[in-house]
Amino acid sequence: MVNLEVNIGKTTFKNPVLTASGTFGNGSEFDDFFDVSRLGGILLKGTTLEPREGNPYPRMAETPSGMLNSVGLQNKGIDYFEKNIYPKVSLYKTNVIVNINGNYIEEYVELASRVNKLDNIAGIELNISCPNVKMGGMAFGTNAASAREVTKAVRAAYNKTLIVKLSPNVTSIVDFARIAEEEGADSISLINTLLGMAVDIRTLRPSLSTITGGLSGPAVKPIALRMVWQAAKAVRIPVIGIGGIMNSDDAIEFIAAGASAVQVGTASFIDPMASVRILEGIEEYLTTKGFNDIKDLIGYINRK
Ligand code: FUM
Repeated sequence: MVNLEVNIGKTTFKNPVLTASGTFGNGSEFDDFFDVSRLGGILLKGTTLEPREGNPYPRMAETPSGMLNSVGLQNKGIDYFEKNIYPKVSLYKTNVIVNINGNYIEEYVELASRVNKLDNIAGIELNISCPNVKMGGMAFGTNAASAREVTKAVRAAYNKTLIVKLSPNVTSIVDFARIAEEEGADSISLINTLLGMAVDIRTLRPSLSTITGGLSGPAVKPIALRMVWQAAKAVRIPVIGIGGIMNSDDAIEFIAAGASAVQVGTASFIDPMASVRILEGIEEYLTTKGFNDIKDLIGYINRK
């Protein structure tokens, strides 16, 4: 038996495979496909204080080896979450993490305080990297002073595991990784999507209503891997790797580069069982290679 357990902040994850926020609904959409509780954790669809309708359609477009989205944080708000989603996700026997978003620091703080009262939520992913909203999101995560201020304020309001989700749309990912660590984050997750666009040459219109959107999928993997590697060498807190992880080989690359866990995103749109298949593939790889513990693989390439 291989030990797959990893610790991030105050949370123990039974294995390092998590799902990326916005690609896994609130878990129940996947109940018909596999036992969601087999995963190390699930990151729920981004939540805001007030309900949001999201951006106008079209807000998804396929690109070579990738996907553009501009959903705009559509969700029903924290009141609905507490009443209708929380009771259901509480039944999972895995870590449930809430991805929080706001226009202003005060909104992030209020959300963090509300989530702090929910016993069955293991942690918060502080989303300062959504590229598809006019206020908040990436505007916080691409400005060093704002990233620092919001992380500090949310840390003061939240005492369980705090993960800060970083934007790749910056010159130096290391600077933002260090800011999160300095302001008390337990972990960083990266990368959120890269800002991109596409044009439909039949209509000669942008493919997305918002013109630009976030690029994910295999196209971004080498960039994500490079940033995870850089960040993991720069901070002591655990790093969670995200970006084009389609199979267990991809996940193993991220872990060997320094990620303590991974989030599976776009792959779940193609194969709803991608995350659990990745988990099985990691276990098989470790067994074949003679590793008894996943921790021996984390950052392996940096030790040689
Ligand atoms: O548009 C969206 O809802 C995307 C959110 C994100 O990338 O964090």
